[in-house]
Amino acid sequence: MRTYIISALAILMLAIGMFMLPNLAQHTPYIDSEQQGLDEQLTIHFSHVVAENTPKGRTALYFKELVEEKSGGQIHVELYPNGMLYNDENEMAALQRNDVQMIAPTYSKISNDVPEWSVLDLPFLFKDEAEIERVLHGAVGEELLETLEAKGMKGLGFWQNGFKQMIAKESPLLSPADFNDKQMRTMSSSILEMQAKLLGATPQDVSFDAVNTLLEQDGIDIQENTLSNIYSKSFYKKEPYITLSNHGILGYGVLMNKSFWDGLSAESKGIIAASMEQASAWNERMARKMNEDDYEKMVAYGTYFHALSAQEKARWQKTLQPLYDDFHTQSYHKILTDIEQQVH
Ligand code: LMR
Repeated sequence: MRTYIISALAILMLAIGMFMLPNLAQHTPYIDSEQQGLDEQLTIHFSHVVAENTPKGRTALYFKELVEEKSGGQIHVELYPNGMLYNDENEMAALQRNDVQMIAPTYSKISNDVPEWSVLDLPFLFKDEAEIERVLHGAVGEELLETLEAKGMKGLGFWQNGFKQMIAKESPLLSPADFNDKQMRTMSSSILEMQAKLLGATPQDVSFDAVNTLLEQDGIDIQENTLSNIYSKSFYKKEPYITLSNHGILGYGVLMNKSFWDGLSAESKGIIAASMEQASAWNERMARKMNEDDYEKMVAYGTYFHALSAQEKARWQKTLQPLYDDFHTQSYHKILTDIEQQVH
């Protein structure tokens, strides 16, 4: 009887353990360098932190459709939006463990693991979207993607969201003095933290899924984000003063677990790469349009907008210059020099 109870308990615990296991890889392909054909039935679990109706959410959906169509349904992409599986604090580790096979964190968040990526957080680095695309589609983009390999990640490419704007609860942010004594939400990034301090604010590193709660609790006064993120999360309802500063960019590295990628057949890799290329080209046009449309919706709602004048922008740039001075002292400063040779 006792043996029977112990066995039943063991089976129960095993069943619960299997159910709760975070590792979602239904099929982790074994590594076979001679594999050529399509892997038979493969599921890619793709986790991200934003809503489906955002540039990243929509591009992820389009990527899924393309992969499934091109593979005739053999490769399945399972999407987990809105941080429902992992938030931006733990998704990178989940990818490295192969608990999920794809994520698309912001450049800022990647910079915590791979500091070269922090170059993309420097304010006023790019004049417009065309400059961003030129740089990321060239040698600098290649170099950034390669830096991920040492961390067990395969960089599949870049998706854009757009330029970041400043957004405040109580009054418009026109000059650096307006940031004084304010609690500023930042993504996790040393450059963004330093940026907040240089502007006179106190940085609060808060994950995306926690921003609304903190806003309600008066834990933060200001933040920076793109118009589409501000709209999709209704931040403009709690922070109604938006400064169109276009001071920084927000985009994503699209990352796959490297061992998972290495284990795929040549044909599966080809389908994923072709789908990425097609989805990324679409993403650039769609993200721009979404930010424009969401801007119009917020104007119609009555949100206050102020476009930074040339003089105001010059003051912000002067205040933030130490970020560049500091970057040039880092061991990975060459990436900034390479970009500076291609912009403005
Ligand atoms: C944020 O934390 O503000 C962004 O990372 C959200 C996003 O677009 O992934």
